[in-house]
Formats: sequence, structure tokens, C-alpha cells
Amino acid sequence: MATGYIPREFIDDLLVRADVVEVINARVPLKKKGREYTACCPFHNEKTPSFTVSPNKQFYHCFGCGVHGSALDFLMQYEHLDFVEAVESLADSLGMAVPREHSGRGPDKKQIQRTKNLFSLLQEANQYYQQQLKNTQKALDYLNRRDLSDEIIQRFKLGYAPAGWDNALKLFSKSYSDQQLADSGLIVYREEEHKKYDRYRDRIMFPIRNRKGQVIGFGGRVLGDDKPKYINSPETPVFHKGSELYGFYEARLNTQKLERIIVVEGYMDVIALAQFGVSYAVATLGTATTPDHIKQLFRAVPEIIFCFDGDRAGREAAWRALENAMPMIQDGKEIRFLFLPEGEDPDTQIRKIGKEKFEASFEEAVSLTSYFVEKLKERFNIASDEGRARFLTEASKNLKTMPDTLIKDQLLKRLAKLTNVDISTLNRRHIINAPEKTEPAADFTRLSKHEVSKTPVRYAISLLLFKPSLVNYIENFEHIALSELPGSDLLTTLIETIQESPQINAAALLERWRNTEFEAPLTHLMKWQAETDDEEVLRCELQDCLRQIRKRANEKKIETLLHRSSTVGLNKQETEELAFLLRNR
Ligand code: GTP
Ligand code: MN
Repeated sequence: MATGYIPREFIDDLLVRADVVEVINARVPLKKKGREYTACCPFHNEKTPSFTVSPNKQFYHCFGCGVHGSALDFLMQYEHLDFVEAVESLADSLGMAVPREHSGRGPDKKQIQRTKNLFSLLQEANQYYQQQLKNTQKALDYLNRRDLSDEIIQRFKLGYAPAGWDNALKLFSKSYSDQQLADSGLIVYREEEHKKYDRYRDRIMFPIRNRKGQVIGFGGRVLGDDKPKYINSPETPVFHKGSELYGFYEARLNTQKLERIIVVEGYMDVIALAQFGVSYAVATLGTATTPDHIKQLFRAVPEIIFCFDGDRAGREAAWRALENAMPMIQDGKEIRFLFLPEGEDPDTQIRKIGKEKFEASFEEAVSLTSYFVEKLKERFNIASDEGRARFLTEASKNLKTMPDTLIKDQLLKRLAKLTNVDISTLNRRHIINAPEKTEPAADFTRLSKHEVSKTPVRYAISLLLFKPSLVNYIENFEHIALSELPGSDLLTTLIETIQESPQINAAALLERWRNTEFEAPLTHLMKWQAETDDEEVLRCELQDCLRQIRKRANEKKIETLLHRSSTVGLNKQETEELAFLLRNR
């Protein structure tokens, strides 16, 4: 096994607890399609999605370029981590500490040190920028003009990156490698031109911190009106826009009891709100709110209020947020939208009206479902039959992404009433849910021609990978080995392994055989997709496979006994056995 120093049980546990959909979606937004998720493959160029992720097997596979694997493989491939780093990173995201069998030194120390170094580099950079701010009057003046208090500048650890192309470069080259400087996003490398220089020059620096408070990136704002107004960190091994929220750490730190979170658009908005006592605002980092953002927020609070500018851009951002939020709705959680008067953003608004009135305005925030209906009504004329049909067709796109909840029930009632179409018709027309089987090819037809054929042994393996708990229906399996069918050794080992660790999932099973002769066949069979989730159906399929294997084993036995009887002859027991087998043939 590839993991000398991390106990195998830990890797099993990690892969059972991690969610490959969550891991990938935080980096490459996924769309739900049937029981799987898809996206355009991040590992090759394509226009139509052939990258699929199975939540059940905790496995991804690209039908275009063939990449595949578990959450760990994805981290290795996408973030260029080695195995141990991927384990560390995944464990870290789940708040699990990685135990070591030899707590002394191991070969992986150096690699762990690498990510550690990235954090320490970013931390040192932030201290440097804070120091520079103290010494640069024009930067202090700027923050003063924006009415930021010293206390709030300190709370958000704002800094200043001095003008010049190589201040950070010179300073940090002393203790960090080119690779680390590039990975941190602080230094820009232009390989063609053999140039490297500071990304942030003459800018106010907003450090972005992760949930542990570690600096993972920066936003940098010009002091004047130059363009671009903001420069954000690029995606780095420790910074992913789609899963980070500016101010989330500070909000947790400074709010007595977090009950709701306001999502705003800008750094300055978060900070101004905090200065005025609304310490529970966060901002996305120049991207739309992702489902991952919402998931994280819902883990912390039951209520999210999106606060957008009242202009066109704000309304567009709101609709995008709505679309990404719909798949994440839950009963018991609430998402609302608050629109500010035209020309105001939260920063200017709270300075104008103060904390109390600002918080009182939450009363006017509209619920996600009301906003949804309202926007659709604006777009279609529901006074006509055709308009109502278009209204419903359009609504359908989003409704299909909504989980089955009371909130959805309420919304459906409202739509039905509004359009005067009853819910059963909506259902029949597949307005509410996607038709049961969108993909006719959910079966083995996905295997391309030159791939292996479906034998009972292979099918049994793929069923067990799909649902390891099916092992409970297997009573005895010694005949599998006796059948001498190709793959029978793998199937036998697989059954034994699942019986030993009943909680295991496909990804963790695959991990057990990384770098062994079983890795390739297992990976291959992982791509097979069972037709249904129905345990009863799957059980029958599995038992059918086992019956066929047993039959084959019996044939083998008959052959052997017949051969024996014609050469050395059979003893009494063997004769009886042969008779029994022939009778039951
Ligand atoms: P101020 O103008 O300083 O009040 O900042 P703001 O936070 O109000 O900025 P604005 O509403 O213009 O933009 C909202 C957010 O969008 C910012 O906080 C940035 O994250 C992002 N953003 C704005 N301008 C740029 C830009 O030029 N480039 C990038 N990458 N992001 C930007
Ligand atoms: Mn602003």
C-alpha cells in the first residue's frame, strides 16, 4: 500500500466522510444530471460535459479523456498535490487530524512543509503590508477619507503594498523558492519573457482568511480611480474563489451569536458594515455566489440575506445567486433578498442610515421563492395561455434543481394558482421534476466497444462497488474461487474486505488497491453504472450473478470429477457428489 505512515483505517474513514461532489464542486461547478453530476472536464478542453461524478461511488470519470478517481485523486490531479498532501488537504477541509503510525520523521514531512510554507509566506506578506501601511501616509489618508476607524483597520488587518515592481519579490526571495512565490499568487511569473514581479503595487491590501484565520489570499484596491479597481488573488493551492467568502472568519470571531449572515458584493461593504456594528456580513470574491458558499453559510446560520445594489448589475447578480441557491434550499433554512436604493451600496447605505435602520430594512427583504415568482412575472405575460405556458416552461428549469421540500411544495401551489394549472398537470408535463430517466444510456452501454464484456463476475464486482452493503446478502462464497473465472480472486477479496469494514465505500475500496494489480480492473468496473438505486433490484441482480458463478463452479467440478473417474477413479464421497451435481445440473 502506498501509505506507509498514515494508517489505512484513517484513509478509509476519510474517504467515507468526504464528499467527492463537494470537493469537486468547490473547484469546478457541477450540474446535477440524473443521479450523477456533470461538468466540462477540467483536465481537457471540451464544449459538452463528459466529466461525471457519482455521489454514490464517490468517484469521478471523464468519458472524454479518461481521467478518473476518488476525492483524493481529484485533489492530486487538480491541485498538483502528491498523495500525502491530498490526504492532508482533504482531512483539513473536514477538520480531521491526520494520525501517523510513526510520529517521528517520515518521507512526507517535506511535502507537508510545502503547504505550511505557503501559509507562512502569506502570513508574513500580510504582516509586511500592515507594516507598510503604518509607514505610508497617503495610504492612511485614503483609508481615513473612506472613514475607516483604526480599530476596524486592525480588525481586518488591512495593509498597503508599496509602489514598485519588486518589493515583495526581493524580501521573500530570501526565504522562499520561486515555486512558492508563484504558488502564493504574490508574484507574477511570465515565463516567455523571463520576468517576475510583484502582483500588488501601490494598493490597499485586504487579506482573505480561511475558516481557521489563516491568510490564503488578498484583494488589492487602487488608491484612486485607476483600473482595475481591484486585483484579487488568482486560484492557488490554498485559495479557491468558489469556496471562500471574505469576512466569514471575522464574522464568526466578532459576532456573539451568529443568527444570520448578510452576503454583500464588496470588501468595503463588509468592512463598513462591521464598523457600524453589523459584524455578520460576508462578500464573495468577484464571483457569483456558488452552491458551495451557500452550503457553508447554512452550516453556520439558518438565514442568509443577499444584499444587492438596486441597479441592473445588482439585479442580475441576484438572479444568478438565486439560481445557484435553489438546489441548496432546505426546510428550516431561509434565503432572502434585500435591494438597496439605486446608487447605494451597503457601505454608503449604512453610513447614511445607521445600524438600526439598516437592520430594520431586513424586514423588507423578499424570500427566495417570492423573488423567483416576481422576476418571472415581470418577464412573461400571464394573462394569456401562451404566456402562462412560457412562464411555466421557464420556471421549470429552476424548479427541477430544487430539492423536494415544503418550500418547494408551497412554491408549486403558488405557481399552480397563479397560472391556473393544477399540480398534477405540472407533474405530468415534467415541469416540476426531470423525467425519471433522462439518460437512456445509464446502463452498461456507456462502455465503449473495446472495453471488457459484462460477465457475472465483473457485474458482481461493479454491483458491490456501487453498493457495498449488498455484501450482507451473500451467504457463502467459496464457490466463487472454485469457478476459476477471470476476476474471481478479485471478487472474493472484495467480499472479504467489505465484510471486514462494512462502512466502506467504493472510493475507499479502490484506495486499498492503489498501485496493485487490482487497481486497473477495479477502476474500470467503477465506471459501470447500475440501472437503479433500488436495493431489492440490485440484490436480485447480485444473486443472479452469484447463481451463474455457482453454476459455472459446478460445471468445473463435474469436469474434474469426470476426468478423475476416467483416470484414477472416484471414492464413495466423490461418486455421490458427482451424482448430486449431475442431478442438479
Ligand atoms: P469601493 O469602490 O472601494 O467602495 O469598493 P466596492 O467593494 O464597493 O467595489 P464594487 O462594488 O465596485 O465591487 C464589488 C466587488 O467586486 C469588489 O469588492 C471586488 O471583489 C470586485 N471587483 C470590483 N472591481 C473589480 C475589478 O476591477 N477587478 C476584479 N477582479 N474585481 C473587482
Ligand atoms: Mn463601494
